Amino acid sequence: RAMSSFDFDSLIRAVADFPKPGVTFRDITPLLADAGGFARCIDALAEPWQGSEVQAVCGIESRGFIFGAALAQKLHAGFVPLRKPGKLPPPLVEVDYALEYGTDRLTARADALRPGERTLIVDDVLATGGTLAAARELVGKLDATLVGASVLIELDALRGRDRWPAGVPLQSLLHY
Ligand code: PRP
Ligand code: MG
Repeated sequence: RAMSSFDFDSLIRAVADFPKPGVTFRDITPLLADAGGFARCIDALAEPWQGSEVQAVCGIESRGFIFGAALAQKLHAGFVPLRKPGKLPPPLVEVDYALEYGTDRLTARADALRPGERTLIVDDVLATGGTLAAARELVGKLDATLVGASVLIELDALRGRDRWPAGVPLQSLLHY
């Protein structure tokens, strides 16, 4: 179900029972491989933030890098990778977050964002919201100003949006 006039949905493949039984995996690779579709996707993700004076786009490793880097270019902003543990050299800021089984960690360079820098967080999918919450905490630890977040896909039934502050814009291009 798309909120844009372009049919992004036809370029996202639903794969039943992956990575485990009962889960429907949303495969974005056909969209990425479609030159026009990918371009229009980045246009649509950028559109709500034109005029928001975004200075930095934080993309979440790994699928958030794909959309975040392209969006940074479109918004004439810098790109900051929020990375999994062991990938960036110190000094770092770090946030641990819960997964369905166990925990994970997001890291950023301690000087990755300037205090007050107007920052947008980008990822491919909002599921339970744990990843986006961790990214938001990381942006806060860096004393940057959070403008909002953009995701390509929001999985409504998992209620990830409930973990996002109501006063901060969170934009999803597609809802499943
Ligand atoms: C997936 C997806 C989001 C996150 C959403 O990433 O790309 O980043 O899960 O889940 P949540 O809302 O429940 O936190 P994953 O950690 O599988 O890694 P990847 O991006 O490297 O594929
Ligand atoms: Mg991810």
